Amino acid sequence: MALIVKQGEVPRTPHTEFYGQDGSLALEEIHGSKGFSGAFSRKMHLRRYPTVQSRPPKLLKWSLAPRPALRLPLQPFHLRTGALPYRGDYPRSRRVLLHGRTTAISVAKFDRSSPAREFFRNGEAHELLFVQEGRGVLETEYGELPFEPRLYLVVPKGTTLRLKLETPRAFFLVIESSYPIEFPPHYFNPDGQATLMSPVVETEIGLPKLQRPQDVRGDYAVLVKHGGGRLTQITLGHHPFDLVGWEGALYPFSFECSRHHSIAREIHTAPPARQTFQSGSAPHNGFSICTFRGQIEGWHPEDVPAPYAHFNADSDEMMFFSDTSYGARQGVIEPGSITFHPGALPHSPHGDAARRSFAQRGKLSHYLAVMLDTFFEPLEITREGWACAQKDYPLSWAKAEGASGAVLSA
Ligand SMILES: [Fe+2]
Repeated sequence: MALIVKQGEVPRTPHTEFYGQDGSLALEEIHGSKGFSGAFSRKMHLRRYPTVQSRPPKLLKWSLAPRPALRLPLQPFHLRTGALPYRGDYPRSRRVLLHGRTTAISVAKFDRSSPAREFFRNGEAHELLFVQEGRGVLETEYGELPFEPRLYLVVPKGTTLRLKLETPRAFFLVIESSYPIEFPPHYFNPDGQATLMSPVVETEIGLPKLQRPQDVRGDYAVLVKHGGGRLTQITLGHHPFDLVGWEGALYPFSFECSRHHSIAREIHTAPPARQTFQSGSAPHNGFSICTFRGQIEGWHPEDVPAPYAHFNADSDEMMFFSDTSYGARQGVIEPGSITFHPGALPHSPHGDAARRSFAQRGKLSHYLAVMLDTFFEPLEITREGWACAQKDYPLSWAKAEGASGAVLSA
């Protein structure tokens, strides 16, 4: 992200003497991506380094490691996550449904705020959270970020966080990547500014608001995810939100779905125009995230607004349906449904979606779905994913065709 932000107090010249409010020497930490070569932020701790542990590290008995499903035949999947129960706080509620070499997709349905002295930190993946339900505050060392439905939260690897609920419960789609998750670089000009044709504008992000540094001693637990989903509890002897200031280009931010300014054209608009984020060096590795929100459908007199069948053999595709208005899957999906279409098979709209879509020509459509396409990275379904799968989904196209009598003729 090219937008460099400064909050609170930092030295004017990097890595020079700097004193906090009470005259104590503030201690500098660089939070970096891609080693010392990617986006980073400079964090100024009030008086203690973030390395001062008051108790020995403890490997927790529970983990967020994906449990691969039993050997299943190749097939498309429909995961009914809307029906899953809410349980506990944010990290404990996470269920990994799909995972690959660098990517993991989970849902978190939680009904408790984080405990007062406990924090979560993903030490092995950058995260993109999509808020399906619930309001509250994402609290991090960078400051507080409010969240509400239809919002993305981008959380860099290594951020220390807790979640405060303001509603009885919340439901997040959680996307993890080993690589940084960012706006697509091709939306930016060589000067680092989103171009005038870009569907996203970097200045429309929501920034965390730094709070007063917590100058408190005591035991504070940080649950760090590492090593493929294991969790180690680190205990700091001081509150981790102790920054007098920070500056840089690596920080958590929010982005409302409605800020993805859709691009329409006379005939069907292909998904890359709906791309909001990416990870890695898409389309060579990592993934692309598209926001399918309402837009003017193609206005050509013979346009087919429904998508085509597609067989993107280098991509596994996950689609999360925030609502059920997506015409191509009408009658199949529920709010919170996830479809997973492995790249080894083509997939298509259901039933007579193509013919029904003629009525949408040139009209504003209304739907909301989030799509993830991996590049050269197959995903696997986990036991938790398979447990909530509609088992006869592979036959749903035949069923939809039978229901609509959709043998298309001119
Ligand atoms: Fe697709």
